[in-house]
This record gives sequence, structure tokens and C-alpha cells, in this order.
Amino acid sequence: MNKNDEIELEIIDNGINFEGISRVDNKVVFVPDAIKGEKILARIIKVNKNFCIGKIENILKESPQRQKPFCSVYKRCGGCSAQHINYKAQLEIKYENVKNTLEKQDIKYDCLEKVIGMGIPYNYRNKAQYPVRIGKDGKSKIGFYAKRSHEVIENEECLIQNQDIDRLSKEVFKLLLLKGFVGYNEQNSHGDIRHILIRRGYHTNEVMVVIVVNKKEIFDDVRIEEIVKILKESNDNIKSIILNFNSSKTNEILGKEEKIAYGTEYITDYIGKYRYYISSKSFFQVNTIQAEVLYNKLKELLNLKGDEILFDLYSGVGSIGIFLSDSVKKVYGIEIEEQAVKMANLNLKANHVNNAEYIAGSVDKKIVEFEKRDIHPDVIVIDPPRKGLDLESIEYIIKFRPEKIGYVSCSPATFARDLKLLSTYYNIGKIIPVDLFPNSVHIECVTSLTRK
Ligand SMILES: C[S@@+](CC[C@H](N)C(=O)[O-])C[C@H]1O[C@@H](n2cnc3c(N)ncnc32)[C@H](O)[C@@H]1O
Repeated sequence: MNKNDEIELEIIDNGINFEGISRVDNKVVFVPDAIKGEKILARIIKVNKNFCIGKIENILKESPQRQKPFCSVYKRCGGCSAQHINYKAQLEIKYENVKNTLEKQDIKYDCLEKVIGMGIPYNYRNKAQYPVRIGKDGKSKIGFYAKRSHEVIENEECLIQNQDIDRLSKEVFKLLLLKGFVGYNEQNSHGDIRHILIRRGYHTNEVMVVIVVNKKEIFDDVRIEEIVKILKESNDNIKSIILNFNSSKTNEILGKEEKIAYGTEYITDYIGKYRYYISSKSFFQVNTIQAEVLYNKLKELLNLKGDEILFDLYSGVGSIGIFLSDSVKKVYGIEIEEQAVKMANLNLKANHVNNAEYIAGSVDKKIVEFEKRDIHPDVIVIDPPRKGLDLESIEYIIKFRPEKIGYVSCSPATFARDLKLLSTYYNIGKIIPVDLFPNSVHIECVTSLTRK
């Protein structure tokens, strides 16, 4: 196979990023947007030693699972890359992906349940972070990054985003331009506005607007006041407007320093009966409805008796620990982001939870403090970021010998890797994938492990 060859391909599978997979002369060909069962005419656009990448030129036999993408910028935007496949089939592919990932680690997948999908898989996101950039034409743009690049793609509306968030982000953007600000230029680090981040409480409608600016000096008090006044008047639900200062040359969205321009440093939302305070930098699941499903499944799997000591590791604003607090004796949580720990403490008060304690720091460094205090967990719940657990933390978790471990993960690959390590000492129970990210390729998984 050579670059630019046109070739007929049978698509035999879909990969972890939903890309179509074909095989020619023992060489794998990946074809973005192709669906298992399809026959296509592809152009080879990349030839590597072990694999090739093809591009669909023509679909010769179309999958019945194919649907018309609902978004006008689908081809260019790096967001919902599964939307050309109907939702039922998306869930089946996500199931297969989790199954294959577990299989690679020799983990028996007879305990893998069907993916729990979402009733209406649109407009579910409670948070958006839109980059604002100055284009080659000198005009400022707001939108999403294009696939594998930092080019900003503008779009009319984003259908996985809450509509208020989508509308408001454009309103804030236009207002900032009107006041003389311009988008950020990554090449020379010039420009004013880097991102507009908006959070909205799904159950409360409370809105937080975070304007990420390149340099602190550019925002004088008069212009801040004008912007706050206009935004407040146009939207009653805005409870918090924050200026975040980020002059770093990295991909980090938020800088360290912030200033509250209006209202409070938080908004609130509910998961189940619990009310959660959420700040700009604290993690909160982006799909509130499905987060409740996920936490309920975790609770069910752990089958708590009421007398347990539970560790809530990677605890964010304490969402999981607080959700489980009335089913255990005591909760101890660790979270690295100090702002999130501050929120966790507010959340304890807001929910009259008196049997939990949250500390700030890295799990691998802080977990030892519990050992020093002679605190021994019966249950450890872990919900790490995508990179999963580090070896030091796994060693501590095993050393603590909890009866049960609850593992929540947004990365099947690191989830399977960590389960494999834990499985020397623990039996893996049901694994339940919950779709928190419909129309994207991502999937959340939850399981419980019991000590052998
Ligand atoms: C996937 S979130 C889970 C948050 C929370 N359990 C929830 O359900 O909302 C992972 C959290 O781990 C935190 N984190 C990342 N690395 C950490 C570390 N080394 N030690 C403690 N927390 C960490 C992040 O700040 C984030 O809040």
C-alpha cells in the first residue's frame, strides 16, 4: 500500500476512538468515521511500518447504524466524534471497547454489564470551556479546537452542551469584543482573552462565568463593572463572575490567580438529595443526570452496612463521599486541588454531614497520614484522573487491606491496568459502564472489588 492509493476496504471493527478498522495483507488500516460492517472506497493518507490511515472517499455499503451527524461542524471539530453512529450502536461500541480493553489485561469480562445509556443524549453538559483565539484573518473567534490542532472552529450551537451555556458563552464573547478586547494569540502570547468557561447547575440553573485573561493589567475596574452590569441584567441566573489570570505558555486552561468580579466564588448543584458547592477549579462530573446514576450504582455495588470507615480518594468536592456518608460510619477524603477541598468542607455543612473529613494533598503523599493516625479503612473508593493510580498509591491501598474497593474511572485503559494489579489480592465484581459522555468516544466505568 502506498500513500494516495485508492482501495476498497471491509470495515471489520471499530477502535477505541470509534475509528473503523480494516485489514489488508496483514496490515491494519484505520479509517476515521467508518463503521463496522461497511464497505468503503478509501484513500490511503498515511503509511506507517505497522499500520496505515485511510480516508473515506465513498461508502459502497452503508451500515444501518450510520446516521446523519447533527452538528454542522462535525467534520472539523474535535468534539463529538461518535455522532455519525446512532446512540444504540454507540453504546454497543463502547461496551466492546471496554470488553477489549479488559481482555488485553486478561481480566475476565463475564462480570461486564451492558452500558447504561442516557435517555436523551443531548444538551447534557453542565460545563463548557471555549477557547478564544485570534484567527489568521485578524478576527477573534470563539469555538472548539479542531481535531488534533488548536485552530478554533466556530459553530452555531453545540448540541451536547446545555443551551443556556452555549448561548451565554457567545453573549459574553461579543460583549468582550465590544469592550475592545481581542482573542489570544498562541504564537506570540499576545492578546487578551484565552478562554470563556461557563458552569451551570443542572438542577439549580445557577450560572458561573469565568473569563480567562492573558494579563492581569488589561482588565481595569471600569470595564469590569460595565461587563458585570450588562451580564447581570441579561441573565438573572448568573451567581458568579470570575476573572482568572493565566499568562503561562502551556495548555492549562486556568491560571492560579483569580478575582471575583461579581457574586460568589461558587455555584451549587444537586446529585440526588445532596447539594454541592462547585468553584471554577474544582472537578464536578459534567453530566449531572448520569453522575447520579453512576453514584447509585457505586452505592449498590459496595453494599455498605453502615459501620464502615470509608476513604474517598481523589475526592473533588466530596461528591462521592458525601453521597455515601449516610451508609457508613466515617468518611475520610483526599483531594489535590485546594479550592475543591474548600468546597468539600462547604458541602459537609450544606448537607449536615458530620461524619466526614477532607484533606488537601496528593493521595500518594497524604494517605500515610491516616496510617499515622491509626485510621484503617474498611472500604476505599478511588476515582482518579485519566492517568489512573500510581504504583505508590496502589501499594498503600493494598497495604491498608480494605475489605472492599470501589473504583470509578473515565479511562478504560488505566482502569483495566489498575484492576489487573489489584486482582492479585482482590476479586473483581460487576463492572458497569455508564455513559456520561453521549456522542463522544468516552465512557465511565464503575466496579467494586472484594478482598480475597
Ligand atoms: C475524576 S475526578 C473525581 C472527583 C470526584 N470523586 C467526583 O466524583 O466528582 C479526579 C479528582 O482527582 C484529583 N486529583 C488528581 N490528582 C490527584 C492526586 N495525585 N491526589 C489527589 N487528588 C488528585 C483531581 O483534582 C480531581 O478532583
